[in-house]
Amino acid sequence: MFRNISVIGLGKLGYPMAQFLSSSGAKINCFDIDKKLVDELKENHGVYLHETGLNNLLNNNNDLIFHENISDCIINSEIIYITVPTPSKMDGSFSNDIIYKILDEIADVIKKTKKSYIININSTLQPGSIDNDLIPYLETRGLVNNKDFYILYNPYFVALGSVVRNLQEPDYILIGSSSIYAAKKISKFYNTLYKNPQIRLLKFKEAELTKLLVNTYLTTKISYSNFVKEICKDFDDVSDLRVLESVGLDNRIGTNFMLPGGPYSGPCLPRDNLSLKKFCLDYNIQSSFPDEVQRINNAALENLYKVISNLKNKHKISSFGFLGLGYKSNTQCFEESYSIKMMHFLESLNIKVYYYDPYLKEKFTAQKVETFEELSLKSDIIFLSYIDQQFNPIIQIEQNKKIWDLWYHFSNTKYNQVFHKLSDFSKFENNNSEKNQKIIQFNKKLA
Ligand SMILES: NC(=O)c1ccc[n+]([C@@H]2O[C@H](COP(=O)([O-])OP(=O)(O)OC[C@H]3O[C@@H](n4cnc5c(N)ncnc54)[C@H](O)[C@@H]3O)[C@@H](O)[C@H]2O)c1
Repeated sequence: MFRNISVIGLGKLGYPMAQFLSSSGAKINCFDIDKKLVDELKENHGVYLHETGLNNLLNNNNDLIFHENISDCIINSEIIYITVPTPSKMDGSFSNDIIYKILDEIADVIKKTKKSYIININSTLQPGSIDNDLIPYLETRGLVNNKDFYILYNPYFVALGSVVRNLQEPDYILIGSSSIYAAKKISKFYNTLYKNPQIRLLKFKEAELTKLLVNTYLTTKISYSNFVKEICKDFDDVSDLRVLESVGLDNRIGTNFMLPGGPYSGPCLPRDNLSLKKFCLDYNIQSSFPDEVQRINNAALENLYKVISNLKNKHKISSFGFLGLGYKSNTQCFEESYSIKMMHFLESLNIKVYYYDPYLKEKFTAQKVETFEELSLKSDIIFLSYIDQQFNPIIQIEQNKKIWDLWYHFSNTKYNQVFHKLSDFSKFENNNSEKNQKIIQFNKKLA
């Protein structure tokens, strides 16, 4: 059981994790280099993260303690959780530069206090990093592994929007370790924090690979779904939804990610696939597997571009509306969002782009609208970027609005203008002049 824990890096994973760890009753000492972020967290407790359940974690009478520097933050701790960015490098591997900076400061404290700490890394690492880079790095500072410091690798499997639930109810807990002492300590801690946790204790490289391989299995499933979509796309008597749902009903396969949708996107999946590719290159593993997964993903985006070109050239659409522009619901994060890539493509064709997104703060070249009515009026077609129950009222605005819905979210409505797959677009008819008339009336109403 730990009584004093540090968390370094209070971002999308670190802050909810710190709040979750506080439910253990331990003192949680926090540090983030971004002072503005820390002030915001003190003020609004991460409300901007839109994380379901985060609010409930705040009422356990064990407030986080924020520190001005790493030394003050860690000095009394037994274990240091590190959740800082490990950005992708040009070659696809993850950079450890920020982790090195933190290890430098930890090394200074170890030397000063002569106290050993458990350093628990939660950031995603390139497989091989701990053995080949991080332990040798601390050793060059004159410290002895598993004596002056103990490293653990303990990545979490979380998705933005459900981080709290994923932290509270993990399928299993993955721990990489080379120390029986540190592995026992953290296992004991998790046995008090969770009821019957399933803990997988592995060697470092095994754990680093497992983290990567879980995410790249998900990208594989998404690419497989997109491949099935491709097979079904030209047949108007074949529903990709029904086929994928049926494939997933086989227990060996499972229904998760076995649905039609967009290409994989977001801050984790695309980069993890590139990292796996780099790992294969580094270790001379001849495999086109990560390339193929990525190729299918790129082709899925190209297919969306082809539909847009067709809408422009054949059906003369001049405006396009996104219902959601980020990569998923409940997050301000829009990294690798395929809708943003589509936005740039639409703009290159001189199509006017509008979007409604309740989560994004960032400004984009497309014009943001504040109501479904405005989005509906101004756009020749509306594209559903991700499923969000908040978006449902859109279908009450105008019964005949054209909606491009890869997810089949609106398939059970009375709507007759929903397009799910390529063959559906054969019934597309533009009524631009009607739309323009309505905009004129709308503008008059506003004036
Ligand atoms: N967010 C997720 O859902 C998720 C899921 C799995 C793994 N991860 C991994 O966790 C790590 C962090 O991801 P994130 O999404 O929380 O990133 P993030 O960018 O949201 O947060 C990182 C935080 O670290 C802080 N930071 C940067 N340099 C620092 C330093 N020198 N000292 C102290 N703080 C510093 C930043 O200010 C930021 O607040 C990454 O390796 C990511 O791959 C994230």
